[in-house]
Formats: sequence, C-alpha cells, structure tokens
Amino acid sequence: MASFDFSDRSRYRVVRDDIYRRFEASEHGGDVDRFGRRGQWIPRGCIIYYDLCDDLFVKVFDDHFCRAGEGRFLPEALDRGVYDFLCPALEHVLVDTDGHLRGYAIRSGRVLSRYEFERYVGDILNPVVCEVTTRTGFYFYDLTYHNVILREGRLSFIDLESILPLSWYGKGLDFAESMLNDIDIGYALQSKFNSPAWYASHVEALNGPV
Ligand SMILES: Nc1ncnc2c1ncn2[C@@H]1O[C@H](COP(=O)(O)OP(=O)(O)O)[C@@H](O)[C@H]1O
Ligand SMILES: [Mg+2]
Repeated sequence: MASFDFSDRSRYRVVRDDIYRRFEASEHGGDVDRFGRRGQWIPRGCIIYYDLCDDLFVKVFDDHFCRAGEGRFLPEALDRGVYDFLCPALEHVLVDTDGHLRGYAIRSGRVLSRYEFERYVGDILNPVVCEVTTRTGFYFYDLTYHNVILREGRLSFIDLESILPLSWYGKGLDFAESMLNDIDIGYALQSKFNSPAWYASHVEALNGPV
C-alpha cells in the first residue's frame, strides 16, 4: 500500500469507519456461534477514505477480510474479470507487503437513485450482469442502487466484495458450516441476498433445480 499515506488527513478524509464483530473460533472462548463453536466475537474494521487529490474513494479492509472473511472471493473474482466491464471506475487494487489484497480505490461518482437503478441496471445493464455471472461463476448478492455509481456517463459497480460463488446461492446453515475453511465469520453470509428478482431468476436458472 506504498502510495497511500492515510495519515495525511489534509488529503484523505475518513468517509466511513466501520467496526463490526466477527467470530474467532478458539477452544477456550466464552461465546458460542451459530455453528455451535466456542470462541469469541472480536472487533474488526473496514475504512473508506475519500482522496481529495485524486477524487477517489479508497476502501481498506483489515488483514483477515480477504483471507478468510467476507472478501475471501474478491481476489479470485478480480482475476476472473468480474469487474472488467462492470467497474470501469476502478483505479487501484491495494495489496499489502505480504501480497494479500487489502482494498481498492474507485473514482468518485454519483450513487444511483432507485429509479435510475431500475432503468439503467434493470433494463440496460441487465444482460451484461447476467453474462458476467454465467462466465465467471460468481454472483452479486448486494446488487442495489446504492452500490452502483454513475461517473462521466458510465455506470460502475462499487462494494466489489459483495460476491459469492454460484454454488453458494440459497444454501443453508449446514452448507455454511461445511465451508468454514473458506469463510469463517461466524454467520451464514450466503443467506444474504439483496439483489433484484430478475437477477435471482438468472442465478437460479444457472444453478438448476436444488
Ligand atoms: N466511488 C464512489 N463514488 C461515490 N460514492 C462512493 C464511492 N465509493 C463509496 N461511496 C459511498 O460510500 C458508501 C459505502 O460504500 P460501499 O463500498 O458500498 O461500502 P458498504 O460496504 O459500507 O456498503 C456508498 O454507498 C457511497 O455512498
Ligand atoms: Mg454498499
């Protein structure tokens, strides 16, 4: 992350500083998660900065996030080109000194209104979103108006980590439990789906009957 000096507060404004509780399994922990494991809930974080010089939003994750947290599939999704067409505003990918993905920087734009989302994404971008899903094997579980921006007349996704493999779609707690080696966050992430109905139909058609 060499080129970002976030301590320079005249350049980087904190837009959002999220602290959330994530589960860390350990034999002697005092808590029990939804999978019945012992451990403890610990605070983790994600910070979004606005870069006043380059007009970028920079999202920085804790070091757990892309290794075993919600961002676990982001490195692979980027490699498979999930965002080649869907995030033209993506400017940088942040990697730490160990070579782990730690965030990304996206040029600033204007978040869509609900109406614009229905028109631009629902009616126009729809085939591209479906095609990318088919081709890459990843689906977007948080495809909503506040996660798409308009910049210089072009649509661009933000919140890039909101993706999961197609095979995770609609699966229950048992499945999440069997995947704890992939994502260990103490809850079943795949039960979250905030994307439109037309997209759910596409994902279901790809997955076939359960
Ligand atoms: N490139 C961007 N341009 C404009 N607004 C942005 C951009 N990136 C983030 N934001 C603002 O920050 C909010 C949170 O960013 P997001 O990546 O969606 O994080 P979260 O995981 O909290 O939803 C967005 O809903 C939007 O208001
Ligand atoms: Mg968001």
